[in-house]
Amino acid sequence: MADNSLTALVTGGTSGIGRATANKLAQLGIHVVVVGRNEERGEKAVAEIRSAGGKADFIASDLRDAASAREVARRAIAIGQGHVDILINNAGIFPFGLTHETTEETFDKVYALNVKAPYFLVAELAPLMAKRGKGAIVNISTMVADYGASGMSLYGSSKAAMNLLTKAWAAEYGPSGVRVNAVSPGPTRTEGTDAMGEGLEQLAAQAPAGRPATAEEIAEAIVFLATDRSSFIQGAKLAVDGGRTAI
Ligand SMILES: NC(=O)c1ccc[n+]([C@@H]2O[C@H](COP(=O)([O-])OP(=O)(O)OC[C@H]3O[C@@H](n4cnc5c(N)ncnc54)[C@H](OP(=O)(O)O)[C@@H]3O)[C@@H](O)[C@H]2O)c1
Repeated sequence: MADNSLTALVTGGTSGIGRATANKLAQLGIHVVVVGRNEERGEKAVAEIRSAGGKADFIASDLRDAASAREVARRAIAIGQGHVDILINNAGIFPFGLTHETTEETFDKVYALNVKAPYFLVAELAPLMAKRGKGAIVNISTMVADYGASGMSLYGSSKAAMNLLTKAWAAEYGPSGVRVNAVSPGPTRTEGTDAMGEGLEQLAAQAPAGRPATAEEIAEAIVFLATDRSSFIQGAKLAVDGGRTAI
């Protein structure tokens, strides 16, 4: 199912779930633009896609302010020769801690990357998709946006905002042909969760699957929602959490 005419922007496409998603989209013939701060990781991700015969470019950016998000969107549109057809809002940070131990700086960092960046990327890209009558946006949420978990108030609430924004954007842009959906992962082995050590296994043990996911397992669901295979799905949140939020 090669589609050489599409361009996808994957934030945080240089690591973990984002990189696995970028690889899979590129395997479908889609031109992938990956974003991250670290140039070395960016170039490595692009090289991996190109060496497998795919098309990829890297934009280095810290997405935590509206101007940067808008600038990244504009550069991706230029790379896509006038359009970005798929937006994967994946870049995110997940510092855990009790509410009374959380600093204002950490609060602002989490909301800036997890909520503000996607908000202004959508503000820049969705109208263009709507004008063309077609597009897909996938927001990466988390299972801990669906229940109260001690130490995850800040992170969980930022992703709960994304869950509502998924529905709001489906209402705003869906009638113009832009499908907006979310994937809600459970514990997943990535560079970002390496530091959790045994904590990741312990969290995963609470779910029927009883193990952490691979980044590829999460990416499968993201690619499904980003492509026409899910053509009648709008405003949905797909739990890919080994069953954790089902019990
Ligand atoms: N792994 C899990 O268990 C899990 C579970 C549920 C949900 N999620 C969500 O899934 C998404 C990906 O998680 P992951 O574990 O794959 O993450 P990861 O391995 O830590 O990768 C995070 C990516 O985001 C980029 N990034 C971080 N800060 C950035 C910034 N300020 N500006 C631009 N890019 C930035 C990173 O690149 P640079 O560092 O180079 O900037 C990297 O590419 C996140 O939204 C996370 O909340 C993950």
